[in-house]
Amino acid sequence: MKKLIISIILFSHSVSAQYTDINIVKEVKVKNKGVVVSAHPLASEAGAKILKMGGNAYDAITATQYALAVVYPQAGNIGGGGFLVGAKSNGEKFTIDYRETAPKKASRDMYLDKNGKANTDLSQNGRLAVGIPGSVAGFFATLKYCKLPMNQIIQPAIDLAEKGFAITDQEAAMLNSQKEYFQKHNKSSILFVKETPWKGGDLLVQKELTETLKLIQKLGAKGFYEGKTADLLVAEMKKGNGIITLEDLKNYKVAERKALEFDYKGNNVVTMPLPSSGGVLLAQMLRMAAFENLEKYQQNSTPAVQIMVEAERRAYADRAEYMGDPDFIEDKTSYLISENYLKNRWKSFSFNKATPSSEVGNIIKQPKESTETTHISVIDKDGNAASVTTTLNGYYGSKVLVTGAGFFLNNEMDDFSVKPGVPNMFGAVGGEANAIQPNKRMLSSMTPTIILKNGKPYMVVGTPGGTTIPTSVYQSIVDVVDFKLNANISVNAPKFHHQWLPETVSVENNFPEATISELKAKNYVIEKIKQIGKTEMIVIDDNGTIHAVADGRGDDSVAVE
Ligand code: DON
Repeated sequence: MKKLIISIILFSHSVSAQYTDINIVKEVKVKNKGVVVSAHPLASEAGAKILKMGGNAYDAITATQYALAVVYPQAGNIGGGGFLVGAKSNGEKFTIDYRETAPKKASRDMYLDKNGKANTDLSQNGRLAVGIPGSVAGFFATLKYCKLPMNQIIQPAIDLAEKGFAITDQEAAMLNSQKEYFQKHNKSSILFVKETPWKGGDLLVQKELTETLKLIQKLGAKGFYEGKTADLLVAEMKKGNGIITLEDLKNYKVAERKALEFDYKGNNVVTMPLPSSGGVLLAQMLRMAAFENLEKYQQNSTPAVQIMVEAERRAYADRAEYMGDPDFIEDKTSYLISENYLKNRWKSFSFNKATPSSEVGNIIKQPKESTETTHISVIDKDGNAASVTTTLNGYYGSKVLVTGAGFFLNNEMDDFSVKPGVPNMFGAVGGEANAIQPNKRMLSSMTPTIILKNGKPYMVVGTPGGTTIPTSVYQSIVDVVDFKLNANISVNAPKFHHQWLPETVSVENNFPEATISELKAKNYVIEKIKQIGKTEMIVIDDNGTIHAVADGRGDDSVAVE
């Protein structure tokens, strides 16, 4: 299987429009320098440029997010939301939750028809699918950890939008695949739809987005949540069935939450608490797997996959039952990750055969959950670490572009449980805890994570992939901590995923066939899928060497300051 591992691929510098002195690659090993790993070479470069200008990890990750909103519109955004997990070199840890919220006019049954049937087209596409965007508020909330002013941090994104950049082959293919949906969900023709198909190398100049970014640069968060941009967003809502009002936008607030921290084999895992299920699931899965001395086995071997999948099954059953926005429901995290609770949960584990999902959770009661997202991992030369996962949910979110403002709106409402037992676009089900309520945050799976060893950054990791996010981050940690694999092998080796419902275990196409056969013999139902996640990982060894790896599955890139 090792042969499958992708070796270092150097990016051509032709994509690098502006900062040609910055090194952009798939994998790097450096010391005493800052690195940025993101889904796009120009976005990583924007972050590295900010590091060079004297910014820290938080300046860089904010600049990278703005740049992704320009060069990676399928997921990078100002019309969506995300989570930042930070661990500063002085020991301080923090998170910023800029998840979207449900509009004031949202209600529990808003996606049900007269007969009580859920219409997931409405929660997934078009104006009614949009949650109140949190990203811009999140960037401004991050400023207190930054060293540079916002007008400098946002500038690389403005340059990319204004001067344009050459799109990659992957982005061209993605835009072409969405043409029909863009036409269906927008009232007039949009920049992203052309007569002739997009191809790699085409120049994309975004005038309206440039103006929106300049308003933010000039007026701060008000340049987005009030005034012209807000008016355009609300006007876009009124072109269809959208319900977001000016008041909703003005009232949006980020939440600064205490990071969820737990020990894993002597390492301090710092991750996102609710309303992301990611951190809780990660703690549950790692702790259950630890009951079986996972380190004895090898990556993607049958016993290792069994242990990990069975931990996933039990944790995801809890997700459906108990997890939601902690400002609206009782937060049961400490109980759910406690040793006693998990030991009890693990009693039914057997190496002999798969545990049926019906034995670990209440299937009848459960509803279902909903795909584009992106992760950024950053470390600066002083040892400040930043981990952000940000999302529009589906590719280009709701597919609705705000006319006149040039950005896509999310379809995050689908991450609520639109009806108990009805799966969202990721097949996740949920219930009462994740039911829709005005101002509530929809449950997420995003798992931006930092691991500290002896108080110093050891790993910075995260990925997109909907419900596969926590399980991918879980595999990354087990790979490095238990299997002692390097970051490149961990990121690029084939991944697997299970989420309680459906009963299936998904594996990437190149997953070892021997393991697949052995698992089938133990009653596991295996489904091959093209891709699981796009992981951006930084590992820092005991000598302080930074090993940064951008996922080989996409255009993902590492930039060094
Ligand atoms: O917050 C969540 O869990 C989802 N909206 C994330 C979506 C996602 O990762 C799509 N990526 N492929």
